[in-house]
Amino acid sequence: MNVRRRRLLGTAAAGLAFAAFPFAASAAQPGARMKIGVIGSGQVGGTLGEAWARAGHEVMFSSLDLDHDKALAARIGANARAGTPREAAKFGDVLLVSVPYHAMPAVGKNLGALLEGKAVIDTSNPIAGRDGEIGAWAAEKGAGLASAELLPGARIVRAFNAVGYARMREAASRKERAGMPIAGDDRQAIAIASRLVRDAGYEPVLVGDLAFGRHLVPRGPFSGERPPAEIRKIAETLK
Ligand SMILES: NC(=O)c1ccc[n+]([C@@H]2O[C@H](COP(=O)([O-])OP(=O)(O)OC[C@H]3O[C@@H](n4cnc5c(N)ncnc54)[C@H](OP(=O)(O)O)[C@@H]3O)[C@@H](O)[C@H]2O)c1
Repeated sequence: MNVRRRRLLGTAAAGLAFAAFPFAASAAQPGARMKIGVIGSGQVGGTLGEAWARAGHEVMFSSLDLDHDKALAARIGANARAGTPREAAKFGDVLLVSVPYHAMPAVGKNLGALLEGKAVIDTSNPIAGRDGEIGAWAAEKGAGLASAELLPGARIVRAFNAVGYARMREAASRKERAGMPIAGDDRQAIAIASRLVRDAGYEPVLVGDLAFGRHLVPRGPFSGERPPAEIRKIAETLK
């Protein structure tokens, strides 16, 4: 096949993929305003949701405590609102799921079909001693594939897993951008997550597929903040 024909077919395939996920084509463009549903508005979800609201996206915060989310949204002001997890999942074209890992089965059950086809940024980590049997199972299987099983139908991208929320809070105001390792299987979801990683003050570095997402955990090889080139090197040594 000649190069021109291959390019044309490539463009057509990309067009078809975006047709299957129409929101992705516009959302990945710089400057586009996204609707983001935050499922778990704790330290990480609250921090990232606030950064995205300040970057001009529309954010709905949710957790098990609607009063907390209303107060959080009121403090942030412009672009922020509060709702139940199901309302946030309906509202968001893209979701941030940021809960203790032991809550992931409940999130999957509660949101059900609302997850179908949505880009989901997953910060949730299985932590021994906190997350019980489900955490042990996810650590063994790898957090990326485990999240995909617990949130069926979602287009999951692992990100923000191995940096403390206090660092995330300062990221947008730092001059030098650190890299943020991300992992996923879905090209459009990766493009959307990459934009949101940038809007949170980091440079996204795609390190591998969802199975490779097993390395994106605290005390894993990518733990902490480093320049993008160093993150790429670490990824290479693991392949
Ligand atoms: N803390 C960090 O620096 C950090 C960094 C990277 C990744 N992580 C990982 O990211 C995840 C979130 O961490 P975090 O520190 O933000 O935790 P957190 O402060 O405890 O917040 C967890 C949030 O999840 C909500 N939640 C719990 N069960 C839920 C459910 N069934 N449906 C909807 N929301 C639910 C909680 O609501 P309620 O408060 O109402 O219970 C809370 O808003 C964890 O898996 C953690 O390991 C944390």
